[in-house]
Amino acid sequence: MTTIDFMQQANALREELITRRRDLHRHPELAFEEFRTAGIVAEELNRLGLEVQTGVGKTGVVGILEGAQDGPTVLVRADMDALPILEENTFEHASSVPGKMHACGHDGHTTIALGVAKLFAAQREQIKGRIKFVFQPAEEIVGGAKAMIADGVLNDPRPDVTLGLHLWNGMPLGKLGVADGPIMAGSLVFTIKITGKGGHAASPHLAVDPVVCAAQTITALQTIASRNLNPLDSAVISVTYMSAGTAFNIIPQDVELRGTVRFFRLEVRNQVVERMRGIVNGIAAAMGCTATVDVVDHVLPVVNNAEVGAKVRPVFERYISADQFVMDERTMGAEDVGLLMTDIPGMYFFVGASVPNQDAYYGHHHPRFDFDENALPLSVALLSAAVADYVMPE
Ligand code: NI
Repeated sequence: MTTIDFMQQANALREELITRRRDLHRHPELAFEEFRTAGIVAEELNRLGLEVQTGVGKTGVVGILEGAQDGPTVLVRADMDALPILEENTFEHASSVPGKMHACGHDGHTTIALGVAKLFAAQREQIKGRIKFVFQPAEEIVGGAKAMIADGVLNDPRPDVTLGLHLWNGMPLGKLGVADGPIMAGSLVFTIKITGKGGHAASPHLAVDPVVCAAQTITALQTIASRNLNPLDSAVISVTYMSAGTAFNIIPQDVELRGTVRFFRLEVRNQVVERMRGIVNGIAAAMGCTATVDVVDHVLPVVNNAEVGAKVRPVFERYISADQFVMDERTMGAEDVGLLMTDIPGMYFFVGASVPNQDAYYGHHHPRFDFDENALPLSVALLSAAVADYVMPE
């Protein structure tokens, strides 16, 4: 374990980090439109002397910091995109773009990874191995990691370990979510089409009503989590969209339902999909309708590797006492960082960053979301310390 005090180094960057974060916050860009952000990232990485690739997965940027000696390759991942939300914060650095907002903290993540790059660029002589900084677009539509992988981000050089973090305003500053195993859910979206036979609303006996069939289907789908899955497993099945009909006096021909399934284990995903097909087709048959179920997988669960966790947590203890570690911080929210950790061991951790003295809690994706900027230098220190444990072994 290196004896470098990364908190001291990160604190020296404090003003720079806050300035950068506020600039990014003021100029949010949506998924695959991160042109300004990617430009800033590429310019800074170039200035620091990294080998820079742009346009990786459309708007992604990769910077490789080659150490003085050979050793492992560590992937550091940050996401860059904002959300289609009209910001309601009134501080001076609030979004300057109506309808777009950094409401999840990705402005902070980009800032933090640039801070880590700056610290290591200044001590390249001590690095054994290399650090691959991955600035990913389009996390919010879970498309960016896939696009970067398609463009080869996991090759030449292939990472030995993936590290990343999420600022987490549901936990106070000083708390760290460092659980092993699945911490964020895998996600799929489904589309169900139920077809009956249209007709006059006053003559239902001459029609086959897909609306009634859809209503029973929605209700029955709720029994998958409550009646079919092992109660010790976790899954969410949410029908979030339904479309049917054109007028009050017409029984429509068909109904479309859409929604999402969240899961921590692939076995659970498969069980849910199988039951979903059984329920949809069974109810449709009973009601004289026909039905189709289309499933599109979005992301895999984010699964922290236990060995990486066991290696990294003692490093974190130099900066945060172990009694502040939260070992059960998990969310059914999805994150495509899991794709960068599927066959590469990795650790994705949550840095507590709730805003003190707010009038109420405004969570991630809320128009008044914010995070404590004191989490910026702390996150730079923690991520740097974890990276150093791999590339600065002494
Ligand atoms: Ni996020």
